[in-house]
Amino acid sequence: MQDHQNKIINFEYAPSIESIDIVNIQPKNKLFIDGKFVEPTSKKYFASINPATGETLAQIADANAKDVDLAVKAARKAYTKTWSKLSGKERGRYLFRIARMIQERARELAVLETLDNGKPIKESRDIDIPLVAAHFFYYAGWADKLDYAVPGKEIKSLGVVGQIIPWNFPLLMAAWKIAPALACGNTVVLKPAETTSLSCLLLAQIFQDAGLPDGVVNIVTGAGETGAAIVNHPDINKIAFTGSTDVGRIIQKAVAHTDKKLTLELGGKSAHIIYEDAAIEQAVEGVINGIYFNQGHVCCAGSRLLLEESIAEMFVGKLKSRMEKLRVGNPLDKNTDIGAINSAGEYGKIKKLIESGIAEGGEYFEPSIQIPTKGYFQKPCFFNKVSSAFSLSRVEVFGPVLTISTFRTAQEAIMKANDTQYGLAAGVWSEKGSKIHKTAAALKAGVIWANTYNKFDPSSPFGGFNESGFGREGGRHGLFPYLSIK
Ligand code: NAI
Ligand code: MG
Repeated sequence: MQDHQNKIINFEYAPSIESIDIVNIQPKNKLFIDGKFVEPTSKKYFASINPATGETLAQIADANAKDVDLAVKAARKAYTKTWSKLSGKERGRYLFRIARMIQERARELAVLETLDNGKPIKESRDIDIPLVAAHFFYYAGWADKLDYAVPGKEIKSLGVVGQIIPWNFPLLMAAWKIAPALACGNTVVLKPAETTSLSCLLLAQIFQDAGLPDGVVNIVTGAGETGAAIVNHPDINKIAFTGSTDVGRIIQKAVAHTDKKLTLELGGKSAHIIYEDAAIEQAVEGVINGIYFNQGHVCCAGSRLLLEESIAEMFVGKLKSRMEKLRVGNPLDKNTDIGAINSAGEYGKIKKLIESGIAEGGEYFEPSIQIPTKGYFQKPCFFNKVSSAFSLSRVEVFGPVLTISTFRTAQEAIMKANDTQYGLAAGVWSEKGSKIHKTAAALKAGVIWANTYNKFDPSSPFGGFNESGFGREGGRHGLFPYLSIK
């Protein structure tokens, strides 16, 4: 009997590795300025690694303030001479073409994203890249309908926008930024995160192939200093940033004395509330998806689980057995659920936070699954029976780490959920619609999912409150930050 059970539990999956033959990674990757790939004036390059192996994938150009200035000049010229002169219909045509070309090259983009970022191929293939194309399609549709987006108002494009994005969804964040900016008639200088530049540079090739006029989108690679050069450039009209709350603060200070528009999409510590009358099996799956999707490198991750006391023990038991079946490993394997932590730095940070949680006395659980010894891999885990004062209930870990607390009444659940300096997202599970509505209305978060989690759609606005930032991306609301509305 014991043997038989073990066989079922330890059912092995035959590896199913996605081929990497489709991608052609250049050893040296230049900057994309004014429609061409150009050497950085510094002549300096830095390495981008594959976090699943620790091996170097390619060298990436390090743009300095002079390169950023060249990119801004190209964007300004393109804005004045071509892009702002096109009709919305013509801009839309380019965006539709780009969206179709992204679909045509979807597999190549997915494999490259997985190699450079470490996320499982099933996520880059089925979530990231389809959403990238969907964003371009969605905003392509708005380009000639902007007058209907804000009826009765006079609207105008802003000019040159500077965009700085993180490494957790490299190409998707680029799409969230570039598609609405171009639809509204602006031109762009974008900086990808230093650990994940490659997919953005492939997107630049797609822009070239689509015949997008030179200078409409410029991509400058580099780290914080390159980002700061964008933020501080005097000829930029708007900054859009997604990343850490700390850097968000620096950026807000830097633009405070200017007339630059600003949107910030920052961190989160989102609550995931499970009432006793929830569909339990689905809710377990929802919690897994909420926190372990993309290794937990998700700003809106459901990182604080709040369970109704009457079901807590049973729910935690089910969660544990589900976690014993999660497959952590080679991101290129189509069976993999959890891939590699994006960088040595993030890996070290997560490890340290877990250790601090254990030292603080949190009831720690990790499954007994095997994980690779090479590369940066972290087992999914949680801290059970913690209070709101527990450090990991408050700090954004940005990794596969969950905290679990209980509540007895809806009022207590809401109070605990709102007890955070953030306000990005939340999830509520109950089979009773009125309970969901009542709870959702009382939660202070930008996005609230009911009986699901981490679902994204380009037509739905996304953004936060408090230290999670301000401004919305996606949907009709996502147009407003890229327009002057009078
Ligand atoms: P980060 O905020 O430093 O990086 C995000 C982007 O900002 C990158 O492109 C980076 O090069 C750029 N940047 C860095 N310093 C800058 C500056 N002074 N001016 C302009 N741009 C600058 O985030 P990092 O260091 O990669 O991650 C640290 C922590 O931040 C994570 O562990 C996580 O907790 C949080 N984070 C949250 C994200 C979210 O989506 N909410 C995304 C990335 C990180
Ligand atoms: Mg990398």
